[in-house]
Amino acid sequence: MPEDIPVTELIRSAMEARKKAYTPYSNYMVGAAVLTNELRIYTGCNIENAAYGPSVCAERTAVFKAVSEGWHRFKAIAVVGSPKGEVISQYAFPCGVCRQVLREFTDPDLFYVIVARSERDYKAYLLKELLPESFGPENLR
Ligand code: THU
Repeated sequence: MPEDIPVTELIRSAMEARKKAYTPYSNYMVGAAVLTNELRIYTGCNIENAAYGPSVCAERTAVFKAVSEGWHRFKAIAVVGSPKGEVISQYAFPCGVCRQVLREFTDPDLFYVIVARSERDYKAYLLKELLPESFGPENLR
């Protein structure tokens, strides 16, 4: 992983964001922290809804917060997830919809997805590994 990606800080930020998850229906709490190309960190949590469909994942909350503030290019995202009240014992991978949203604002050959169980226990993937042969903005140009 490139030196300029502050992995520990990203994971810590995702863990803090996870505490804000609004999950009365699934009780599955997720936090995410995305790093912009300018090295700013935006965080997000999952936010559920009584009508289920409007629920949004932590990753998209983080990305949309950043994009809505004018930051469109990203280097990495850290994700942590586990059921409410449990220690984080699993790696929480971004869902397919979130992978496609990340695709929109990243270079899949360079963008890192970090799934973590703790600050030291994490795995890192390039987006192209998690979303191979993807469709993106270039296809429409
Ligand atoms: N969830 C996320 O926030 N990110 C993912 O990548 C997978 C799933 C949330 C959505 C829902 O609130 C809960 O986890 C259970 O699916």
